[in-house]
Amino acid sequence: MSLEKMFSLHGKQALITGGAGGIGFACAEALAEAGASLILAGRSKKSLDDAKAKCDANGYKCLTVICDVSKPEDVNRLVSEAKENGGIDIFVNSAAINNRKPLIEMTNEEWNQLFSINLYGAYYMGKAVAKLMIEQNRGGRMIYIVSTGAYRASINYGAYSASKAAVVMMAKTFALELAEHNILCNLIAPTATDTAFVADYYAANPEKKAAVIKNHPLGRIAVPDDYKGTVLYLASEASSFVTGEMIVVDGGKTAK
Ligand SMILES: NC(=O)c1ccc[n+]([C@@H]2O[C@H](COP(=O)([O-])OP(=O)(O)OC[C@H]3O[C@@H](n4cnc5c(N)ncnc54)[C@H](OP(=O)(O)O)[C@@H]3O)[C@@H](O)[C@H]2O)c1
Repeated sequence: MSLEKMFSLHGKQALITGGAGGIGFACAEALAEAGASLILAGRSKKSLDDAKAKCDANGYKCLTVICDVSKPEDVNRLVSEAKENGGIDIFVNSAAINNRKPLIEMTNEEWNQLFSINLYGAYYMGKAVAKLMIEQNRGGRMIYIVSTGAYRASINYGAYSASKAAVVMMAKTFALELAEHNILCNLIAPTATDTAFVADYYAANPEKKAAVIKNHPLGRIAVPDDYKGTVLYLASEASSFVTGEMIVVDGGKTAK
């Protein structure tokens, strides 16, 4: 197979939750540039409209669907809509929230809300997408965006890290259970990345941002484009014998 064919996604459709967000949209752009059509999902209509306008300007085929991944009925509606519109070949789970608090200060409601999106939403999505992929009988790729926090604890990130660590084991189990259907499930672990996810926090705490940059051997935090190559690799034939794997994209931070 030529390298061009190996990385081509022509004829494929990708569903991305958090698809209008910083990392999710960069992933969407990479997949669309390789030929995939897109379904972008999130809660904010305005963010989805803005993302669609960018896709339209670049000639990417793009459908947007409002969906709160913490609501199973929303997830089922999203996947049904995808089924009616060509199905799903590639699924990227990028939707998540954070809540920076010491564990003893976090309320049970805050803990539950974070888990309802980061873990339960990731499960509702994975289960519904996997069932459709099995029904389609054409294989598939599932890619979970987690975090270096999934395997490295940090003060104030207890709920977030615990939720992402749980997603890692869930995704690895999906990989084992879906292998017989040629559905591959892998993860990308980003580091601190210049998106809305951290913008307010870094603006209010510039000294924290400086310390985080210092902690990255490559001398900067990430930008969304840093994940484009990895997501394309995991979505394409280039990774056809890779499943249950987590690729860390962190500028060398956790090599130390
Ligand atoms: N930026 C970082 O420093 C960093 C570091 C490590 C890992 N990550 C991970 O990277 C992924 C993407 O983050 P990002 O940096 O791109 O942040 P972002 O720009 O804030 O994107 C997050 C997206 O998730 C969506 N979302 C949140 N809750 C949702 C829900 N209940 N249902 C559906 N969509 C929901 C948001 O859209 P709506 O608000 O419209 O729903 C938003 O588009 C996340 O999984 C995050 O944990 C980020």
